[in-house]
Amino acid sequence: MSERILKTEHITQRFGGLVALSDISMEVNSGEIVGIIGPNGAGKSTLFNVITGMYNPTEGKVEMLGQDVTGWKPYRITELGFSRTFQNIRLFPRMTVQDNVIVGMHTRTKGNIFSGVFFTKKEKEERASCVREADTILRLLGLYEDRFEMGTSLPYGSQRKLEIARALATRPKLLLLDEPAAGMNEQETEELRQIVYRLKEMGYTILLIEHDMKFVMNICERIYVLNNGCMISSGTPDEVRTDPVVIEAYLGKEE
Ligand SMILES: Nc1ncnc2c1ncn2[C@@H]1O[C@H](COP(=O)(O)OP(=O)(O)OP(=O)(O)O)[C@@H](O)[C@H]1O
Ligand SMILES: [Mg+2]
Repeated sequence: MSERILKTEHITQRFGGLVALSDISMEVNSGEIVGIIGPNGAGKSTLFNVITGMYNPTEGKVEMLGQDVTGWKPYRITELGFSRTFQNIRLFPRMTVQDNVIVGMHTRTKGNIFSGVFFTKKEKEERASCVREADTILRLLGLYEDRFEMGTSLPYGSQRKLEIARALATRPKLLLLDEPAAGMNEQETEELRQIVYRLKEMGYTILLIEHDMKFVMNICERIYVLNNGCMISSGTPDEVRTDPVVIEAYLGKEE
């Protein structure tokens, strides 16, 4: 049986009078690509924020590899194995593409890998090994040629890919992608899809928020559907696609 990487139990998140999430229970197993879909404001990003420790849920529990991590600080959650990208780009300014990826490794490294001066042999070796690993990730994302550019100077689609590269640098047990194709043009979106397919082949476990139904239905083994903070459906792409409750939720929003 495959390992259970993530489990949420009865998560409720209130903001004042607003119930952003209500009684959400879900799980992700090792090697799976799991989708989260739902109309705008459904609570998808809020669920990511709860899973990654940005919010301490009003009620419920988040488990990582069987360990209760509810309310843990985001950096501790990252250290333990969850790494995410954001719906809006958050790169480090005045830092090269390569260093933006290396910064993602800081949870694993001890020395000062950013300073231009490396005092000890060990620090030099550590930096070299980080650079090698960063370059491997950048090749995977098609950003290797840009590695000495400033991260924030890249075209929009490349910046989004760089965010994924940085998330990969933590060697995550679960990669959480919040609308990775948002704002991308058609060509960038297609490249992004190829990258996610490649990550899937490489055995990554991914939780994906994405609006593009065709993409989600193609790549995900299972899908959870949120609407107004509630889990209205879950199952295989076929089960979800044909669920009248899901069809209703989407058609209702189009009016
Ligand atoms: N920090 C917060 N304080 C107050 N309300 C919040 C906060 N974060 C989210 N919300 C509200 O919770 C609800 C769910 O928002 P969320 O961003 O999770 O939706 P979403 O499904 O990611 O939508 P979208 O598809 O537009 O990204 C919305 O009504 C939003 O306004
Ligand atoms: Mg969102």
